[in-house]
Amino acid sequence: MSRQTIQIDDTLYEYLLGVSLREPEVLAKLRAETAKHPQAQMQISPEQGQFMALLARLMGARKCLEVGVFTGYSSISVALALPPEGRLFALDVDPEATAIARRYWKRAGVADRIELRLGDGTGSLDALLAEGHAGTFDFAFVDADKEGYPAYYERSLTLLRPGGLVAFDNVLRGGRVVDPGAKDSATEAIRAFNRSLHGDSRIDLSMVPIADGLTLARKRP
Ligand code: DHB
Ligand code: MG
Repeated sequence: MSRQTIQIDDTLYEYLLGVSLREPEVLAKLRAETAKHPQAQMQISPEQGQFMALLARLMGARKCLEVGVFTGYSSISVALALPPEGRLFALDVDPEATAIARRYWKRAGVADRIELRLGDGTGSLDALLAEGHAGTFDFAFVDADKEGYPAYYERSLTLLRPGGLVAFDNVLRGGRVVDPGAKDSATEAIRAFNRSLHGDSRIDLSMVPIADGLTLARKRP
């Protein structure tokens, strides 16, 4: 029974949450508000947020990066796991969704730890590199347009310190990665991206089947 990952049905999922989720009230409120958003499916799951917060704590992360903020669930999860002097650079293209995020950063008491940079992800990452941030980040979370993942990966890897970690959301695409009929550009992009990471000797690799699939890549020293 433990030779492959268990299938999680709704009952088992509710159980998992019931015995392990410790969701701060501010995040529960954000989840309720985001549920009304037309792109609500882009929000990460609560146990994924808790898992990333645990990773940040395990690493003693102080300087973090996020590519794709949406309404802020993941940024708050990670920012709450940082020490008070911790910093999170939050990159997104959408001023409306990030207006919700900014409101909740204040409510969560993490607004002073987060720097929002609005604009094209690749351009914002290049700006961080030009500003001298290479090799200084502990943790990065990539959850933006799937076609952009290769560009975000290369830049994130340069921004990470040796031993730093980058996580990629939606690497299973709701199972569409194995559906031969799924030929949309995002799924094709994720398939190619997953394949490229598998052979990439610059990183330690694990694809974690949490939520919609979360790939962890540790930058090898
Ligand atoms: C989509 C994007 C995401 O990052 C996600 O977590 C879920 C869905 C999307 O583009 O549909
Ligand atoms: Mg996502």
